[in-house]
Amino acid sequence: MSKPTYYITTPIYYPSGNAHIGHSYCTVATDAIARYKRMQGYDVMFLTGTDEHGQKIELKAAQEGVTPKQYVDRIVAGFQDLWKLLNISNDRFIRTTDDYHEKAVQKIFRTLYDKGEIYKGKYEGWYCTPCEAFWTETQLKDGKCPDCGREVKWAEEEAYFFKLSNYADRLLKLYEEQPNFIQPESRKNEMINFIKNGLGDLCVSRTSFTWGIPVDFDPKHVVYVWLDALTNYITAMGYGSDDDSDYQKYWPADVHFVGKEIVRFHTIIWPAMLMALDLPLPKQVYGHGWLLFGDGSKMSKSKGNVVDPLILCGRYGVDAIRYFLLREIPFGADGLFTNEALINRINYDLANDLGNLLSRTTAMVCKYFGEKLPAQRESDPLDDDLIGMATALRDRFESSMEGFQFSAALGEIWKLIARCNKYIDETMPWVLGKDESKRARLSAVLYNLCECLRIVSILITPFMPETAPKIQAQLGAPEEVLTWESAKHFGLLPENAAINKGETLFPRIDVAKEIAELDELLKVKPAKEQPSEKKEEPAQKQPVPGVAQIGIEDFAKVELRVAEVVACEPVKRAKKLLKLTLNDGEGTRTVASGIAKYYQPEELVGKRIVLVSNLKPAVLCGVESQGMILAADCPGDEVKVIFVDGIPAGCKIR
Ligand code: MSP
Repeated sequence: MSKPTYYITTPIYYPSGNAHIGHSYCTVATDAIARYKRMQGYDVMFLTGTDEHGQKIELKAAQEGVTPKQYVDRIVAGFQDLWKLLNISNDRFIRTTDDYHEKAVQKIFRTLYDKGEIYKGKYEGWYCTPCEAFWTETQLKDGKCPDCGREVKWAEEEAYFFKLSNYADRLLKLYEEQPNFIQPESRKNEMINFIKNGLGDLCVSRTSFTWGIPVDFDPKHVVYVWLDALTNYITAMGYGSDDDSDYQKYWPADVHFVGKEIVRFHTIIWPAMLMALDLPLPKQVYGHGWLLFGDGSKMSKSKGNVVDPLILCGRYGVDAIRYFLLREIPFGADGLFTNEALINRINYDLANDLGNLLSRTTAMVCKYFGEKLPAQRESDPLDDDLIGMATALRDRFESSMEGFQFSAALGEIWKLIARCNKYIDETMPWVLGKDESKRARLSAVLYNLCECLRIVSILITPFMPETAPKIQAQLGAPEEVLTWESAKHFGLLPENAAINKGETLFPRIDVAKEIAELDELLKVKPAKEQPSEKKEEPAQKQPVPGVAQIGIEDFAKVELRVAEVVACEPVKRAKKLLKLTLNDGEGTRTVASGIAKYYQPEELVGKRIVLVSNLKPAVLCGVESQGMILAADCPGDEVKVIFVDGIPAGCKIR
């Protein structure tokens, strides 16, 4: 019988700068799941790669005086080297400059055009010629280009658009019918609100630069980089090429792991594109949180954190880094990366808890019995709790892993490790060792510890692929007792297992000395280290449409005031609107607001609300609206007006 398939992907990374610890985070997480699923018996397809087109890369290459392809070739090689170093077990690596991908993207673009899903239209806006950039009215600074401050002119450019606006209802239905499609749950609500605020068509071609895949039937246009990039998940499997057998075999993907900032692209644009192509949708998109780098630790107060993954792996070992990344921060949440937290994890979890347990156990076996434990073993009720915990561990681990809760899964393993260390204190093997008549009991105690370590070694394999075999070698455990199935059973280590004391798994780190050395390192290499650290700040990531960060000066442009509702009535021509008459402290004005579904007019009269008082007036269904009132989108499709009763009308809010 053929194995069931499991297809998992990372985002394809921009090679606009070197691979960093943020990229490593998602790739290590994906690798852990790929290894775990392989262990469970799946035929896994693990895809990663690089997203190589776009204006940013074109510019970077020009700055370095090389072609874009030369530029990305160098950086992509660095990504591939880092994945090798981190023991990433990807089955495939796609580059969007690969010939087969480019051809498939052109085919997909043409298919969508032929189906009427992509149409030619006009891209309009304020255009800054020197910057070659379009700006919206609100982006302009004093009517000028916000980048260079020069004059802008109203311009129109031909462009292709994807009919994304047609898919709002189908997407909402998808989220409802497949509740796991977007995970974690909180990200789903963000997407629902985004869609409910209105989905426009998506501009999917550019003419302002050339480093992209040309639209084959209109080559002055290049394909929008996100359309190009998202399709990688199917083109890498051969979709759109002569041999699409892997596409047939693996698609739809079981899960796309992505950072939270690109969930929108993966849960709105990507499924809409697939719907337009009549293709199956991925089963799940999981938006993980960010590693943040900042103050908050002793170490970063000195000079700053060393976050270069090459340096980290060199100093602490690959498995320690992999362990730390997935143990320290729950996968869906943001978390701070500090060298101090890393060193603590290495010292406490790895050196003390796991490393000591192994070295004490194997050392005692060698000391009291040579390499082999006598078959005669005497059990005791004291063993039951330990054995029960060890036998139950695999299922507990599995349920956390199925929800991508890496930290919790490791936590379960470490509970058993802690229990083993307690068991040593309880049974006091060094006392048993002094009494010849207790040899059978001593043998049982040490055997139980070895068995727990065997189970631990199997379950840590997805996280620490170098450490697991080292433990197994010290236990002398043969392959057949190291399978996923055997992690559920206690008592499998054979009598003839040759237990031996090997190298120390994780040497303890002297914290003070390490801090001093890291500081030194940062002094020596400031030019290289600082910019790459900066790049890793997610705050500096490419802004996501609609949630771009703003400066305080932008916020200061908005005037917010308390106003009192003095009258309120429905609007005849628009069921959704209410017309409010407001006292804003200086006089009265009318505002139309789309809250008729949520409030009866009389409920609002006498209430104080927050008014955006300097919004340009606009006519909505025949009502001149002189501002806007603030309301919150609440769960369950509820909208609640922000009431500020008790504050006099006219007060400014800042
Ligand atoms: N090229 C797009 C993705 C296209 S997928 C079809 C892109 N690339 S990226 O280089 O910016 O990488 C984004 C991904 O890298 C994030 O979504 C996240 O998985 C990972 N990370 C980059 N920096 C990170 C942190 N600081 N912390 C955690 N992960 C981060 O977006």
